[in-house]
Amino acid sequence: MDLPQQLVAGQGLTTTKAPYIEQAVANGEMYITQPYELYSADNHDAWRRLYARMQDRWARYANPRFLDGLDTLCFDATQVPRLEDVNKFMAPRTGFRAKAVSGFVPAFNFFDCLSRREFPTTITIRDGASLDYLPEPDIFHDIAGHVPMHTDPAFAETLVRFGACAHLAAELVSTVPDRTEKLRRLTSIQNALQRFFWFTVEFGLMRGTSPTDIKVYGSGLLSSYGEIVHCVDSDTTQRHPLQLEWVINQHFEIDHYQPLLFIVNDFDHLYELVGQLEAWMKAGKLDNVTPGYRQMSEADAQSFLEASLAR
Ligand SMILES: [Fe+2]
Repeated sequence: MDLPQQLVAGQGLTTTKAPYIEQAVANGEMYITQPYELYSADNHDAWRRLYARMQDRWARYANPRFLDGLDTLCFDATQVPRLEDVNKFMAPRTGFRAKAVSGFVPAFNFFDCLSRREFPTTITIRDGASLDYLPEPDIFHDIAGHVPMHTDPAFAETLVRFGACAHLAAELVSTVPDRTEKLRRLTSIQNALQRFFWFTVEFGLMRGTSPTDIKVYGSGLLSSYGEIVHCVDSDTTQRHPLQLEWVINQHFEIDHYQPLLFIVNDFDHLYELVGQLEAWMKAGKLDNVTPGYRQMSEADAQSFLEASLAR
């Protein structure tokens, strides 16, 4: 790839410090390419260390389908993955593809991508000096935490069905004539969808092989060296069987270990829960969920509103 003048091979694609990303954002480009030559030696080293220290923890805490996914994807333990290589191994299994993005993707667009079997993927990697805590997603979270699950057909179908819920929301609300009421309902439905995603795809737990065994399938946990242990072993974490009415009304915070997590029985159960979410949305049961402490961002709300107005 020919790089624009100010971008130099090896200058780095480090989270919050990547000129390539700043340029894409300034140009309003949400979907981008992965200019692989920009990764620095430090970036590859950060991947190597992140990947190496998770091995034992994944073996102990991850659900077996995640481990199968890791086998399928054949990551190079020493190099940041190329998305085209990831897709070469993943697409034949489930049709899912990692799609490079410059950062924030508005909620409707994000869910829409899932419904089309595209996974918006961050290409930057955290600074090697702070491997543990990162408020933003990075390629380790997106590729090592999420993507192995996308090689599993049952999980992939669940994601597609979940992504389609955003279209259903836009459709259902399109007949509401009053714009304020339309936005109010979309905000409520989107809160419910975000919470479901958070407590399942990002931070979900699953029953293991014995009554006391719990395995991790949520990507936020699978990509966290500390929390993957804490979420299963800590006495201070509440772990409850997933109840949909609770999850859709439960707000969450993103900047500390999760104090409350929900357990599903298996992947079929997860798929059925998305079906229930769909049915509840159609019945109007998502129109008045508890408002969140984290209000929906303007861009998230706008993305849903535009999709609904376009119907
Ligand atoms: Fe994530």
